Amino acid sequence: MRMKDAPFFWFRENRLEIPGVRGEHLFMHITDTHVNVWDEEAAEEERQTAEKQDEMWRTFKGRFAEANGEPYGDPQRIPTREAFEKQLALAEELKPEALLLSGDNLELSHPAGERYLTRMLGAYSGKYMIVPGNHEDQTFGSLWRPGVKTLDFDGFRIAAVDDSRKTVSREDLDALRALCREGVPLIVLCHIPLAAPYCKAQCKEKMTGMDDYFYIDSEAADENGREFVALCAGSDAVKAVVCGHVHGYYRMELVPGKPQIIGSQGMAGAVDLLTVAPPKPNPQL
Ligand SMILES: [Fe+2]
Repeated sequence: MRMKDAPFFWFRENRLEIPGVRGEHLFMHITDTHVNVWDEEAAEEERQTAEKQDEMWRTFKGRFAEANGEPYGDPQRIPTREAFEKQLALAEELKPEALLLSGDNLELSHPAGERYLTRMLGAYSGKYMIVPGNHEDQTFGSLWRPGVKTLDFDGFRIAAVDDSRKTVSREDLDALRALCREGVPLIVLCHIPLAAPYCKAQCKEKMTGMDDYFYIDSEAADENGREFVALCAGSDAVKAVVCGHVHGYYRMELVPGKPQIIGSQGMAGAVDLLTVAPPKPNPQL
């Protein structure tokens, strides 16, 4: 059986049409895999915590799925490590231009988890981009160093930004602003979704159903957080935001025509397929 037909997975297809992009580009986005692991070098405490947290998620990921009307049954009720390895096997099969991991990759930062993630992503044959989530340290293993990271594609760029503490550092804001000035279309990859005024007004029901914990709010966040929301919503260079954290899939617009794609929990089989392409030619012209 092909991995993509495994009953564990469920997919959301997302198309981003961006002027200036050349050709069609497929990305696989996963988030909130919350992996719990231990190995022979792990301290006893790490093993116990990993077992306890994995058991907890078996129930809690089902609750999130139920709240969001998403699939959850025996195929999804598997250990987080097994789920993560299925996701990587799917990426090997689909061969996206890059695998995007938008945070809470590990349930928590600890040496065995960092060894595991470094080893698994080191063995992955394709490109990947990863950001930390609020469950993780901001320097997990050797996989993340402070700063905005970029990957360039034909006519656009993906920029990974650490917003895992509901704010962004001054240095990262400056770096992102400099990227915006270059004018290359940008897709921002981060962990915590942004609540810009337009999307708050449009998605009142969705957003008020979840408390402030789930968003960086354009008014309630700290100064840098507010600036991050304003920059992503206001800059013409930023074409989309791709993130996670909510454990439910949502697609909304930050401002008209600028999508924010919030991936659901990868530990319960959620996968975003993201196709980036130029706008279709208008047949009337
Ligand atoms: Fe999470």
